[in-house]
Amino acid sequence: TSDPRVEHAASLIRNVPDFPKPGIQFKDITPLLGDSGAFEGVIDVLAESAPAGIDAVCGVESRGFLFGAPLALRLGVGFVPIRKPGKLPGTVVEEHFDLEYGSSVLAMHIDGIQAGQRVLLVDDLLATGGTLCASGKLIHRLGAEVAQVQVVIELADLGGRANLATCGLNEVLALL
Ligand code: PRP
Ligand code: MG
Repeated sequence: TSDPRVEHAASLIRNVPDFPKPGIQFKDITPLLGDSGAFEGVIDVLAESAPAGIDAVCGVESRGFLFGAPLALRLGVGFVPIRKPGKLPGTVVEEHFDLEYGSSVLAMHIDGIQAGQRVLLVDDLLATGGTLCASGKLIHRLGAEVAQVQVVIELADLGGRANLATCGLNEVLALL
């Protein structure tokens, strides 16, 4: 891409070898978050790229909150958290999904979004797509539509996009 805001953001994402485990190359977004101009630039680009008629932003705990919440404010819509289990006090829908080793669960309040709404689903990073597939299923179970998935970083080698397509998530925007 040639958008200078995206180029600036890219320059502030640090590759950390062997974190949190040997063989994993971690994408550290903390230098980006620490630069207000770069952080705002990312939110602006995501907001400009969002489809029309978004009713709510869903962000995935925890790094998806960092981008989803400011994006919701910028779009003038509410923010709905998708959380790890045991954190939300109201009635929730839950989805179990597989990780490389083991499994995990994500939950969302059933009154967080309404049937028929057009939702923007946001996370920091797309790897295998397991997290976003499970998140999309939660939204679909409440009768709402995922108008677009937005991530800052896509690890394209891991086949996440194809996995998202199998979950009915076909509109995917990755900045990097
Ligand atoms: C990371 C990242 C994405 C997810 C991507 O979250 O923030 O949410 O992994 O991986 P996937 O596409 O293979 O599912 P993590 O579970 O490390 O938790 P965090 O956001 O709380 O740091
Ligand atoms: Mg995450």
